[in-house]
Amino acid sequence: MENEFDIPFRGIVEQSLAGMYVIQDEVFQYVNATFAGMLGYTSEEMTGMHLRQAVAPEMQEATIANFHRRVSGEVPSIRYTTIGRHRTGELVHLEVHGSSVLFRGRPAVVGVGINITEQLQQQEALRQSRERLRELAAYINTVREEQRTRIARELHDVVGGMLTSMKLDIQRINRRTGDPEMKTIVGDLLLLAQESIDTVRNISEDLRPGALDHLGLGSALQAMLHQFSERTEVICQLRAEGFDVQLSQARATAVYRICQEALTNIARHAGATQVIVRLESSAGWLTVEIEDNGRGFTSLTPTGKSIGLVSMAERAREFGGSLASRPGATGGICLILCLPLEDH
Ligand SMILES: Nc1ncnc2c1ncn2[C@@H]1O[C@H](COP(=O)(O)OP(=O)(O)OP(=O)(O)O)[C@@H](O)[C@H]1O
Ligand SMILES: [Mg+2]
Repeated sequence: MENEFDIPFRGIVEQSLAGMYVIQDEVFQYVNATFAGMLGYTSEEMTGMHLRQAVAPEMQEATIANFHRRVSGEVPSIRYTTIGRHRTGELVHLEVHGSSVLFRGRPAVVGVGINITEQLQQQEALRQSRERLRELAAYINTVREEQRTRIARELHDVVGGMLTSMKLDIQRINRRTGDPEMKTIVGDLLLLAQESIDTVRNISEDLRPGALDHLGLGSALQAMLHQFSERTEVICQLRAEGFDVQLSQARATAVYRICQEALTNIARHAGATQVIVRLESSAGWLTVEIEDNGRGFTSLTPTGKSIGLVSMAERAREFGGSLASRPGATGGICLILCLPLEDH
């Protein structure tokens, strides 16, 4: 008569996609086809094999010790990863979970194992690809900053210089002509020349803030906040009391760009009326907090496609730092940038 104990365990074990085995006296007493297959054997070939033979040399001691910890009753079961040795000599990474049981009246270990070699290889490939992506992001940032600096300088020195000469010449014409019609045209030209000079200066400053090179990070941020405040009518405050550190140009630029991107986000998304930027340094680290009083991250906040925050975090990581966020004290968001002052 059938009862609840008539579950066909043997069939289940033999067809299982997970490897299964019974080890007693350090010898495989039973191995299902899946487990044997992972190491390139048939069940029959592996039955009677010493545990040592199935394990890579560097893992033999640990694996045998784990076997004895279970049969001695020290621990009832252990789950760990080990390295098996395939018939061809190739290494196979295995995750095994074995428990102590009584087999033919004596202690043994019954275990389940899965092959995680491919999983580990994929993890490693993913890690390498992330690493390459990070290097690429760092490279792009460097090249972009170099280009910006070069274009800013050419614009300022060359185009700005040419426009200034033009303006001086127009002023000379202005002085020499008495013709009222000419004077009107020359007057318009002068205005245009001045506007062009201002535009070139603004574009150049936008590309590479001169204050960053001449006056340092604190002053450059102050100027940025001032401009932001004028453009958006958001009240901005920089708190940098006692902040007096010399950063490398690359580091200062990174902090500046991160703050710039944070302000762009505030203008675009926050609906804030106030921004406070705090600049501090202690124990070799620089901390910058950018706090707004806007609507904060909402459930509608998209994830995935936006690259602003991702690229800010990437810039921070490039210098061994990190970017985090917490809810702001008055609603809104507080972004926290931590950066070591020097390369470690
Ligand atoms: N200060 C902020 N206040 C409220 N929401 C914000 C703030 N900063 C960012 N967000 C939200 O986080 C999202 C992601 O910001 P992120 O800068 O990564 O992308 P984005 O600004 O949408 O696009 P971009 O890639 O052009 O920067 C934004 O779309 C916005 O919803
Ligand atoms: Mg953005």
